[in-house]
Formats: sequence, C-alpha cells, structure tokens
Amino acid sequence: MASQAQTQVGIIGAGPAGLLLARLLRMHGIDSVILEQRDRAYVEGRVRAGVLEQGTASLLEEAGVAARLKREGLVHEGIEIVARDRHLRIDFRDLTGKAVVVYGQTEVTKDLIAARLAGDGPIVWNAADVAVHDIDGEQPTLTYRSDGRDHLLVCDFVAGCDGFHGVSRQSIPAQALQSFERVYPFGWLGILAEVPPCSHELIYARHERGFSLASMRSPTRSRYYIQCAVDEDLSAWPDARIWDELKLRLGPAAAAGMTTGPSIEKSVAPLRSFVAMPMRFGRLFLAGDAAHIVPPTGAKGLNLAASDVHYLSRALIAFYKKGQADALERYSESALARVWKAERFSWWMTTMLHKLHDESSFEAQMQLAELDYLASSRAAQTALAENYVGLPY
Ligand code: FAD
Ligand code: DHB
Repeated sequence: MASQAQTQVGIIGAGPAGLLLARLLRMHGIDSVILEQRDRAYVEGRVRAGVLEQGTASLLEEAGVAARLKREGLVHEGIEIVARDRHLRIDFRDLTGKAVVVYGQTEVTKDLIAARLAGDGPIVWNAADVAVHDIDGEQPTLTYRSDGRDHLLVCDFVAGCDGFHGVSRQSIPAQALQSFERVYPFGWLGILAEVPPCSHELIYARHERGFSLASMRSPTRSRYYIQCAVDEDLSAWPDARIWDELKLRLGPAAAAGMTTGPSIEKSVAPLRSFVAMPMRFGRLFLAGDAAHIVPPTGAKGLNLAASDVHYLSRALIAFYKKGQADALERYSESALARVWKAERFSWWMTTMLHKLHDESSFEAQMQLAELDYLASSRAAQTALAENYVGLPY
C-alpha cells in the first residue's frame, strides 16, 4: 500500500526551474513538493551555465536568494567576438543600457536549495520511477519510489521541470504535442580550471579550426569551451592539448593572457535546438529544458528556464490568490513567444560562429560577411546586445 500525501503543486525536478518555481510559490503561501531523481551532491555539482540576464537576477532577488549573487556575481557590460584576428567588442551598456551577471548555475542551485531546506518545504532526493497520472482531470497525481517504499502525491497542478530527458513531456499524449528539433553535427568540450580568466570579458571566437569560448566563474576560476565532435573521446584530450587548442582558436591576445592549469571538470555536451508545443496539457505545465533546448552559444538555456518560471509562478499565484485562471490558460502562449525568440538568437549565434563547412565554401563566406556586417553596423550590434542581455518578459 503506497503512502499518500497531498500538495498544491507537485514539482518534478530540482534544477533551476523547479527550485525557483517552488521558492516563488512559497513566498505567496502556495505549497509544493519537489521530486528529484538524483541526490543533492549530484544536483549541486553539475557544471552548466554561467551567464544570468538581468531579468533572471531580478527574479532571484524577488525570490530572496540573491545575497551571494550580489556579492560574488561579476557584472559584465560587454563581450568580445574574435574572427580572423579581428576583435569586436559588443558594448551592452552603451547599446542597451543593460548588463549581464556571471554567476554559475551551480551557485544558483546551491542558493535555491539552501533556501528551500531552511523551511520552505520538502525536496524528495533519489525519487525513483516518478510517474504522472490523470493530468487531464481535476486531480492529477504523482507516484514514485523513495526509501524502498511506494508513494502517491495528490496535486492540484503538476509542474514538469525535469529537463530534456524527464518524464513530464513524455507523459503528454504524442498527438497533443508538436515538436521541432535541430541536432547540430558537433558538441562543446568544456573545462573548468582554478586559474584566472584570460580576459576580463567573455570571448566568443570563430576560427577555421572551430568555435571556442573563454568564460569564467570568478576572478580565480575559468571556464573554456571548444567545438568538438559529438562523440569526441575525452581521453584524446589531455589538458595540455586543450590549452594549446584554446590558444590557437582564441588568438594571440587571449593566449598571451592565458594562465593554464589542471582541469577540475571536463565534459562534452551535444548541441541541440528543440521546442515542444504547447507547454501545457491539462493540469501539467512544462518549464525549462523539459519543454525546450537551445544550443549554448548565447547563454540562453538557464535564462529561458527562469523566464518560464516567471510566467508560470505569476499564473499560479493569480489562480490561488485571486481565483483567476486566465494567465494559466495563456501560459504556453506567453512563455513560447519568448522561447522562440531565444531559439532564433541561439541558432543565429551558433550558425555564425561554428565551423559547419569548409573554409572555401559559400557558407563560410556568409559567416564572414555576417561578422563583417556586425562589426560595421551599430544596428546589428544592438540586435545582438538586446538579445544577449535578455528580451523583456
Ligand atoms: P535541469 O537543470 O536539467 O533540471 C532538471 C532536473 O530534473 C534535474 O535535476 C534532473 O535530475 C531532474 N529529473 C530528470 N528526470 C527526472 C525524473 N524522471 N524524475 C525526477 N527528477 C528528474 N545553458 C547555458 O545557458 N550555458 C551553458 O553553458 C550550458 N551548458 C550546459 C551543459 C550541459 C551538459 C547541459 C545538459 C545543459 C547546459 N546548459 C547551458 C543548459 C542549462 O544548464 C539548462 O537550460 C538549465 O539547466 C535548465 O534548467 P531546468 O531546471 O529546466 O532543467
Ligand atoms: C558560458 C556558457 C555559454 O554557453 C555562454 O554562451 C557563455 C558562458 C559559461 O558556461 O560560462
């Protein structure tokens, strides 16, 4: 016999989307239970995104979890784009009046988990076999296994915040969902190292050997990426080879400022564009990577998860506090309008900066023309900047 419990919003997944949603709901007196298939150490240690839009930072502030972000986050007012030894700075502050904050997703997650566990409500770690039932009825339920026992959670609503490989989206009947996908024929090899960054701003580099990116987590911790094969064998990439490749691709100026050192994390991520529509089925609402994936160029993944949560939290609060269901009805439409623009931007940045074709191809000439136009046009730079800092909610 399964043990039974009840909550207002059952949340699947303790990534940024699920944790932030739970926190914002709690601040308005709405209860939730978070079911997470992994353990806390795994979730807190997963190295992923690093750039927060101002809107994401404001949402974390609204959630009361921005004290450390304000202390330790690095405000960046621009980025550098390098191609064929030509350096172009995109000045966000001048072009848009806005900036972004460099603060790791690991830190966002730790801050949100600490707040949750300080009395907000439960996170069920290691929840196995999570399944979603009756989402097209009045009272959806979630079943799962934890501590060797079966559990049943009765909910008013279910928030599917369980990432691309989660169960939520798969629980929606296939005929009710339309999917759009582009899988890119390359990946990103990322390393984290306890060394100062090679530049005070992020550098995105297009090179005939492939794309590379110099990023950071703090003044003493660097994050770098290089374009690689999807099935790249990590054992073929000892640290020394990665540093040499980065120096070649990022160019002499970055190479001169680069401090090398042992990597503390090394992994390959595939690149994908994906959108599932609508982001709602009955009483199940999808948010974040559960509904859409962007290739990482442009740093939109985490920020899109936050903007979905912005719309979903406000819709649930309007429902519970004012009895208004219209924002819930419009959730998918509101979230998707922003999702598609971020998909476009991430696809455009990816296409402009990665090696997709031979250098002698028409496509390579188009990339160079795009970059040349960007360098010569304030309008083009403004378009990049306003997307990078984040379009309005
Ligand atoms: P997730 O962070 O994926 O969280 C989903 C949670 O649900 C996880 O904790 C997972 O364990 C849990 N879960 C999954 N299935 C189940 C289940 N069946 N039952 C219970 N729990 C479940 N974005 C950038 O902007 N820049 C980057 O550099 C960048 N790098 C990335 C590198 C990698 C390897 C990946 C995978 C993503 C990267 N992203 C990056 C994207 C960004 O990290 C995501 O967009 C962001 O994590 C989305 O948050 P989320 O909460 O929607 O999903
Ligand atoms: C990082 C990742 C990105 O995809 C990006 O565009 C910028 C920074 C990062 O992990 O630091």
